[in-house]
Parts: sequence; C-alpha cells; structure tokens
Amino acid sequence: MNKTDSTYEERQEWRQRCILSNDSFMMGLPKIELHVHIEGTMSADLRWRLSVRNGISLTAGSDKTPLSSLEEVREAYKHIRGRIGAAAADAKTNMTFYEAYYGGFDLLQTEGDYYDLAMGYFERASQMQVRYCEPFFDPQGHTRRGIPSDVMMRGFKRAQDEAESRLKARTMIKSQWIMCILRDLSPESAMAQYEAMLLYKSMVVGIGLDSDEFQQPPSLFQAVFKRARADGFKLTTHCDFNQKNTHEHILQVAKSLGGNGAERIDHGMNAADHPELMQIIREKGIGMTICPCAYIRHTSEYEVFPRIRKLFDAGIQVTIASDDSAYMEDNWIFHNLYLVREKCEFTNGDLISLQRNAVSICWTDRETKIAILDELATFEKNGYSS
Ligand code: HPA
Ligand code: ZN
Repeated sequence: MNKTDSTYEERQEWRQRCILSNDSFMMGLPKIELHVHIEGTMSADLRWRLSVRNGISLTAGSDKTPLSSLEEVREAYKHIRGRIGAAAADAKTNMTFYEAYYGGFDLLQTEGDYYDLAMGYFERASQMQVRYCEPFFDPQGHTRRGIPSDVMMRGFKRAQDEAESRLKARTMIKSQWIMCILRDLSPESAMAQYEAMLLYKSMVVGIGLDSDEFQQPPSLFQAVFKRARADGFKLTTHCDFNQKNTHEHILQVAKSLGGNGAERIDHGMNAADHPELMQIIREKGIGMTICPCAYIRHTSEYEVFPRIRKLFDAGIQVTIASDDSAYMEDNWIFHNLYLVREKCEFTNGDLISLQRNAVSICWTDRETKIAILDELATFEKNGYSS
C-alpha cells in the first residue's frame, strides 16, 4: 500500500458521511448508469439466499474457509480488496475480486435466480433515481457451466419488463443489455457466444469486452467486433485503469475496433496521461464510463481524481458509473457521484453535465433521451444549478 492510499476504514467513514448527509440534490438528480455488471450487483443477502435455495455451499479464499451464515457472507464482502484480477489482502482467507465475481455466477441456476439478480439491481437503481441503464452481462460465464441461454435471458427479460412497468409509478427505469465477451477465453468462444446470442438480439444493444485484460488486447477480438458492428450493435470495451499496455489498448478501441473504433471505452482513465489519445477520443466523440470507487480500492486518490477532472475539462464525454457495486464496498452510482463532487470539486451544475454526457453517449431511442433531458432541465431550473 502507498502512503497515500486510503484505508478501508477511511473509505467507510467517508461513505457513511455521504449517506447521512441526506443531500437532496444528489438524491433527486435523475441518473443514467452505463457501466454496471449485473453479476457484480449480487448482494451478500442474495448470495446467501441463492446458496440456500440451490444447496451450494459458500467459501472464501484459497483455504476455502466455509461461510456458514448470512453474517459471515456479509463480513466476507467487506474484505474483497485490491485491483480487479489481483489477490485480496490475504487471499488465503479473503475472496479476491474474481473469486467473488465468478463464484457468484455458480449460484445462478434457474430463471428465477436470474430474475432475482436483475430485479434486485433495478429496484436499487430506481431508488437512486436511475432513469435508464445499460447493464453488462457475461453469457460465457453462464453457458460454460451448462446453463441454457434461454434460462438466463428469460430471467433478465422478466425483470427488465417488470422494472419498466412496475417501477414506472415511482420512476421510469428503462434498460437495454450489453453482452460482454470474456477476453480471457478464446476469440472462437467469443464468436460462438455472439452467434448464439443473436436469438436475443432485441434485448441487446451493444457488445462489450471484460474480464482479465493482462495480455489480452482488444484487437484479438476484432473479428467478432466487426461482425457485431455490421449487424448493427454498438461497441464498447474495458481498458482497466493502470493495466499493462493500456495506451495501446485504448488506441485500438478508439481507432480500429469494429473497423473504425468503438462508440465507448469503459474505464480507459490512463488516456488522461496521453494528449494524443485525449484528442482522438474528444474528436471522435467517444464516451468514457469512469467508476472512481473501483479505482480508489487500490490506488491513491491523487492518481484518480485529477485524471477525471482533466478528461472532463477537456470536453471529453465522461460519465460516472458504478462497475461491480456489491463487490466494491457497496458503492453504487449515488456514492460514485458523491465522491467525484467532493474530490474533483465538481459543482452541482457539473454533475448535471455528467448526466447530459451520459444521455448523449447512451444507446436508447430519441424519445427516451428527450424525456430524460427535459427532466434534467426541469431539475436544473428548480434551483439546482449552482
Ligand atoms: N474490468 C474487467 N473485468 C470485469 C470488470 C471490470 O471492471 N467488472 C467485471 N468484470
Ligand atoms: Zn467493468
């Protein structure tokens, strides 16, 4: 740990302060979420329920320490630390990020399980005034365990439809899915999954790329991205913060993925260190989804917030998002926005601009975009523009 890294306790103290502030601007702000992995929203409570329901025992760490109660699962969630793809503080008894993330996949067995996962997210998002979201899902992580695509997709669809109709009374919550390719599996596996997913084309708006980036550049998956572009899908790709060869990966995504570059980059924060990359991203109008709570778990805040500010000030279409909230100290879009307001010294007006950026770079229809922009304008007019 660097001297300047925050401790878990410091981050919790800050998080508590943010929740207790009851900030009416932050709570009322209509929000758009463009970077959330649905599998990364599995709360400790749902994990426990699924393990009981499906008769699957839970463990943590390479020692396989048993988790035998909801309390123990909640406690284990507090100890998921460090960079995505790296070991936890003590990986013998604590879960690494990927252990928590992919371990959660194993618990999802039936259509009802997928419904519960997605509905849990939509409920939570609706409470935070999320109007529209584009959640990622990782189908290869399910089909490789023998789960039929139909089981997963029917569960997601039921939740999505219900969220739109049932939660409408409270807030409108519309969604479209982004199918992510697991970059640590082969390009052939990616293509096979892509072709299988065409059956559900009407639910899926975009194709993304996630999982362990080490030695897995985006260009490896060019064939599937080209095919997806030709079929009318939007494209995005993870370029994790401070990854090896990150500038090269960002350049591939911005300039050549799918033929002439993707519409969005997920994370990609190191672009802030590279004027040429910033220029390409700005000129091409590429959107960037930035998830600060994910980074400060393993990086000093001095490395994080000035970069976000720099990208924003350069006129790049940045939006703030949440990534894998359940495994990232329970930080959702609300907490991420709260954090950047304080640490990047954004005004409330800037936070409204961040939502407008999200509207601009999201992939919903014109009518939904106009409805959200109208709501943001009314919100701003009502005295929240400072
Ligand atoms: N990066 C890479 N893989 C992931 C992530 C991420 O942010 N979240 C879930 N899988
Ligand atoms: Zn992510």
